[in-house]
Amino acid sequence: MQNKLTRRSLIAHAVCVGPTAWAFALLSGAFNRAHGFFGIFGKKQKGLQPDQNGSVTLELSNESYAALAGQGGAVKIRVKGFDRPVIVMRIGNESARALFSKCTHLNCEVALPEEDKIPCPCHGSYFNLRGEVQQGPAKKNLRAFPARVNTEQNVITVSELGEGA
Ligand code: FES
Repeated sequence: MQNKLTRRSLIAHAVCVGPTAWAFALLSGAFNRAHGFFGIFGKKQKGLQPDQNGSVTLELSNESYAALAGQGGAVKIRVKGFDRPVIVMRIGNESARALFSKCTHLNCEVALPEEDKIPCPCHGSYFNLRGEVQQGPAKKNLRAFPARVNTEQNVITVSELGEGA
């Protein structure tokens, strides 16, 4: 009797805990996607360290930034001191833009640009490529950083990152 009860309770435990663990894992994954690189347990990942002028320089020969080689390309970079990535966009041969991907509504991480829109996956806000609100509920524009292309050195430099967010 004791044995049967133990086996039965183990099976009941597996039936209850298994799906609960899966649901938790799925939910925490969705949370992390929406809320950036602070995981659900608050663990912060590494990022680029701004130099003493508060700038980071992206070497476009680096395959991580290959999307920035051509006009219309965009990538997200992680920068130390920022709890969401910074979106860097190649607007033209000699122009680039950089925006903080933290939505000004409730801090979700906005997506990379889709055509000329930057959507937020949480509540439907979207921004244009300058980071200006096009549709709420967000009311404030995304934070923008100066970005410039140096075609001779094949780099993009993003500035004013020194103070973090
Ligand atoms: S957090 Fe972006 S729309 Fe709500």
